[in-house]
Amino acid sequence: MNVMSTVGPNPSLRPSAEGSPAKVRAMASAGAAASGAAVAPVKRKPVLLHPAAKVVVFALCLLPFFWLFYGAWANTLGPNPAEALIRATGDWTLRFLCITLAVSPLRQWTNLPALARFRRMLGLFTFFYVVTHFLSYGWLDQGFDIDAIVKDIIKRPFILVGTAGLLLMVPLAATSFNRAIKWMGAARWQMLHRAVYAIVLLGLLHFFWMRAAKNNFAEVAVYAVVIAVLLGWRVKRALAKRKAGSVS
Ligand code: HEM
Repeated sequence: MNVMSTVGPNPSLRPSAEGSPAKVRAMASAGAAASGAAVAPVKRKPVLLHPAAKVVVFALCLLPFFWLFYGAWANTLGPNPAEALIRATGDWTLRFLCITLAVSPLRQWTNLPALARFRRMLGLFTFFYVVTHFLSYGWLDQGFDIDAIVKDIIKRPFILVGTAGLLLMVPLAATSFNRAIKWMGAARWQMLHRAVYAIVLLGLLHFFWMRAAKNNFAEVAVYAVVIAVLLGWRVKRALAKRKAGSVS
């Protein structure tokens, strides 16, 4: 059971509970206990399991999009709005990839299994931002000229790598629904969705290659460290599982 699902016997001991409804309820329970009456545990729905939590996360995920949309409309994206849009949507794609990959380790580190509820939504938002990134590039950089886009993808290796990442994301987005898991079988579905590790590495290489031309690696290094931690956690977990399997 989720550790957040019940309030402990005396939450009034927590400083933040002062004057809160939880404290009032706890004091009432304490009074009842002192008078010998049976104390029913006070149940509280964990915040992460609340139906509104998904709506809040959805709205938060859309914020960067609306912020950029507003910036384009109000002309506040700087001297080169097209470049700013392409870059910002690329940044958000990489950030959402990292956030999605952070769900599993965070579930373990924080002991909050309910975080898993948001993983699919975060993954689909990653796809949403990469499509927005591609459309911004196709429209603002190439005027939706398919011939020019194809030539550019072939000519510039960093764009070829980004395109490989986008293409790999398509089957993941298309099979992100429960019916697809049933249809494919859990093992095959899981195998396919491991492509996310290749995608994040392609995204990082794309970013590195682009910045290499400008000899500017500071941000790339930050992403590289975050991705190394997220993938390193998985390698460690897989090795521990294998070891446990060989012992038993
Ligand atoms: C996994 C997929 C992708 C990821 C994670 C990604 C991420 C990024 C990032 C982080 C940047 C740099 C932003 C900055 O400088 O702050 C960027 C730039 C860029 N990306 Fe992507 N991208 C992806 C796919 C694509 C695709 C499919 C295309 C086009 C076919 C593309 C075209 C570009 C272009 C043109 C730039 C800007 C280059 C410049 O301003 O010099 N990307 N991308």
